[in-house]
Amino acid sequence: MSPNDITNTKYKIEIRKRFIKYIDKKRVLDLYCGFGKMYNNCYKGLEYVGIDSDKIHNADLCYLEDNKEFVNKNNIENYNIIDLDSDDDPWGLFDIVLRKLKEKKVVIFITDNNYQKMKNSYSCSTSLKKTDNIKFEIPLLFRFYKKIVGTHIAKKIRDKYIIKEAKYLLSNNKKKTYISLYMESKQ
Ligand SMILES: C[S@@+](CC[C@H](N)C(=O)[O-])C[C@H]1O[C@@H](n2cnc3c(N)ncnc32)[C@H](O)[C@@H]1O
Repeated sequence: MSPNDITNTKYKIEIRKRFIKYIDKKRVLDLYCGFGKMYNNCYKGLEYVGIDSDKIHNADLCYLEDNKEFVNKNNIENYNIIDLDSDDDPWGLFDIVLRKLKEKKVVIFITDNNYQKMKNSYSCSTSLKKTDNIKFEIPLLFRFYKKIVGTHIAKKIRDKYIIKEAKYLLSNNKKKTYISLYMESKQ
């Protein structure tokens, strides 16, 4: 692990500890739980379910399963802390989760690598492309990363939630972005 990774991990832990304070009765759905770094530092002792397709950290709390399959077939509407700490592209899953959530107050953490994708391939994930109607490879697309992702989030939440606080950080190695959202139901 490079010094950058440590700094990024430190940020991820700090922002989670800060945002989950908005939620009273915390119910965590950790959809990329891995070996449980976020669990061990932020979610221990809370109502918690972890999902990962490759590795889990506690057989009593976690399921070894594809996260989209889990979300599609289970009732997830009462979770209020959703962790999408992806290595790659979380937006397809974000869309499904958003459709199913019902809680009044919800915190979502997202790790996304589309900034790097936009730099390397002039393109981005299918889900983001659809929202912004991006049909071609576009040089310098990464410059519009924040606008593209902001539009995507706004469109997906607009009928249900309003955002009360949002934080965005590009990692030190510029490979990932960390997005944290606290939102409240419109009704
Ligand atoms: C950045 S790591 C997560 C680290 C973890 N949040 C922690 O705190 O230790 C990303 C994880 O996503 C998992 N993953 C990738 N694709 C997945 C999928 N389709 N369904 C479930 N997990 C997946 C990988 O196995 C990997 O453990």
